[in-house]
Amino acid sequence: MSDVVHVDLGARAYDVHVGRGLLARAGDLIGPHLRLRRVFVLTEDRVAAHHLDAFRAGLGAIEAPALALAPGEGTKGWAGLTQAVEWLLDQRCERGDVVVALGGGVIGDLAGFAAAILRRGVRFVQVPTTLLAQVDSSVGGKTGINTRHGKNLVGAFHQPVLVLADVDLLSTLPARDFRAGYGEVMKYGLLGDAAFFEWLEEHAPNLETDAALGAEAVRRSVAMKADIVRRDETEQGDRALLNLGHTFGHALEAATGYSDRLLHGEGVVIGCALAFDLSARLGLCAQELPGRVRAHLHAMGLPRDLRDIPGDLPDAATLVDLMGQDKKVIDGRLRFILARGIGAAFVTDAVPPDVVRAVLDASA
Ligand code: GLY
Repeated sequence: MSDVVHVDLGARAYDVHVGRGLLARAGDLIGPHLRLRRVFVLTEDRVAAHHLDAFRAGLGAIEAPALALAPGEGTKGWAGLTQAVEWLLDQRCERGDVVVALGGGVIGDLAGFAAAILRRGVRFVQVPTTLLAQVDSSVGGKTGINTRHGKNLVGAFHQPVLVLADVDLLSTLPARDFRAGYGEVMKYGLLGDAAFFEWLEEHAPNLETDAALGAEAVRRSVAMKADIVRRDETEQGDRALLNLGHTFGHALEAATGYSDRLLHGEGVVIGCALAFDLSARLGLCAQELPGRVRAHLHAMGLPRDLRDIPGDLPDAATLVDLMGQDKKVIDGRLRFILARGIGAAFVTDAVPPDVVRAVLDASA
C-alpha cells in the first residue's frame, strides 16, 4: 500500500512513493529508469546490515554492487566523498547509470552530491531509511558535504529521479532517532498547516507503533515539502521557511560539537520552541503558543529548552555569534523564521540581537 507525491519541477520532476512494502517492489519502481540492468548503491554499515539484502531481493535481476561507508556525520566530508566517487569510477559507473542512496540524511546528501559531480552528473534514486530523511532530506535535491568551516557548505542542487520512502524501514530505527526525525514532521505543521499540527497533537504519540499513521505523517510532510520546492527550488524565497527552528538549532549543534549530546532533529525542535518564544516576545503571535509547542514536545519525549541539553553550553552571546556563521546570514544580517501563529511562518531579518539573547537566557 503506497501513495505517490509528485514533485513538479518540469524537466526535473519526479515521484516520491510513500508507504509500506516499497523495498520489495524496488525492481518494478526503479527498473523504468535504467538503461542497463544495474544500479550502484551507496549505503552505510548499519543500514546495509538491516536492509541491503531485502533491497537487493526487491531489485530481482537488477545488479546492485554496493559500497557501505562508515555510519555517522563524519562520513559526510571530503574523505567520504572521495571514497564514494573513486568507488563509482572503479565500478565503471557510466553517465547513463543510476546511483542509489540507501540510508539516512548523511548517505542521501553524500551520494546525491557524488552523483551530481560524477562524470558531470549521473541520475540518482533516494531510498531513505530514517524518518528525517523520508520527510526532509531525500526530497528537494539539496546535496552536499560538511567541511571544517561548517555543515553543508559544499554541495549542489541535484534532484533525484525517484524517491522510495518505505515506512516499514523505520521500525529498525532507534527510538531516539525516530523522535528526533519527528521534529522535522512537526516543523511542517508549525510552519504552514495548523490542521496538520492539530492532527499531530492527537496522533503523533502513536506514529512509531502504527505504520498507517506513520505513512500518513510522512505523506503529508512530503506533500508540503514538494509544494514548497516546486515554488522555490533553489531557496530564493519560500523554501527558507523549511528552516524553521534551524537558526537556533544549528547554533546548538555547533555548540555541542555535532555530537550525540544533541541530534539534528533535537536541535530543530528546541529551535522551534525558541522561534515561537521570539515571535511571542516580539508581539507577533499569541503569548500561549510557545507553551502549546512545548506541551507537544513534552508529550513526544523531546527536549524543549537549552537546559534539556546535557553538559555545559556557551553563553547567549556566543550562541548568537555561532548563528552568525550560518549559511542563512545575508549581508551580515541573521535571518529567522518566525510565526504569526501555528501554521503561519514567515522569514525576517529584522530581529534585535538583544531579544534573541533574552530568549536564549530564559531557556538556559
Ligand atoms: N531541509 C531544508 C530544505 O530542503 O530546504
